[in-house]
Amino acid sequence: MTNYPINMNIEPKVEAFFDPATNTISYVVKDPNSDSCAVVDSVMDIDYAAGRITYDSADKIIDHITSNGLKLEWLIETHVHADHLSGAPYIQEKLGGKIGIGKNICTVQETFGKVFNEGTEFQRDGSQFDSLFEDGDTYMIGGMRAFAIYTPGHTPACMTHVMGNAAFVGDTLFMPDGGSARADFPGGDSAELYDSIQKVLSLPDDTRLFMCHDYGPNGRDIEWETSVAEEKAHNIHVGGGKTKDEFVKFRTERDAQLDMPKLIIPSLQVNMRAGEVPTDEDGNPMLKVPVNAL
Ligand SMILES: [Fe+2]
Repeated sequence: MTNYPINMNIEPKVEAFFDPATNTISYVVKDPNSDSCAVVDSVMDIDYAAGRITYDSADKIIDHITSNGLKLEWLIETHVHADHLSGAPYIQEKLGGKIGIGKNICTVQETFGKVFNEGTEFQRDGSQFDSLFEDGDTYMIGGMRAFAIYTPGHTPACMTHVMGNAAFVGDTLFMPDGGSARADFPGGDSAELYDSIQKVLSLPDDTRLFMCHDYGPNGRDIEWETSVAEEKAHNIHVGGGKTKDEFVKFRTERDAQLDMPKLIIPSLQVNMRAGEVPTDEDGNPMLKVPVNAL
């Protein structure tokens, strides 16, 4: 396994922003020793029925950063989300920072470039993003060294981002009572997801884990933070020593029963472009609906 530059002595300040419309949690992560920060998995609001995009969620993050005098260095996407639109370009326009995602975005762009019948003007090389991460790549948030762990399975481009003693797992894991995310999107793979989860669970036991989603199972309040130790002991899909075979069988049967996420069609078109809304030949923002293609 890659020798990751783990530093549990750095404890970043993590501010969470919950979006009730999509059950997404976005984060502002601050270097404890400077004013530098990163945003992880921001949200752009959409009323899909009306085709209307707004920025209330992103504005909350912008307000937090400006009112605390922080300097935004990175806008991290843990993966190409299928259930919400990224607010990264809107925040970048106001505050700067670089938008980064896993290098396998190119695979995702290839797959969904076909699904949405995109023309040659849609680049499938990840060039819409400022930075493409590979397993073990590091980057700085002020004086804090962050690194990316390649954690595919939910999608081929999923990465877990570790910043000091905090890890942002995207959809690789849910809270212990939520289990794990589906692995049946094009390019998803439940066996790969199991291996990726094991990578995350091999981080130090007291690593703080931050989820991208929570649905409050069994009526509990929304939560987003747990630890490697908690997940290892109690995760209902992989905890307590569940085997890969058990996981793959369970995940495959479960995924076959799940409906598509409500916002998958707009989300993929926008997020595979680093959060930019596509335009028609006249330059007007326009989304497509491929029929019977997903
Ligand atoms: Fe996801």
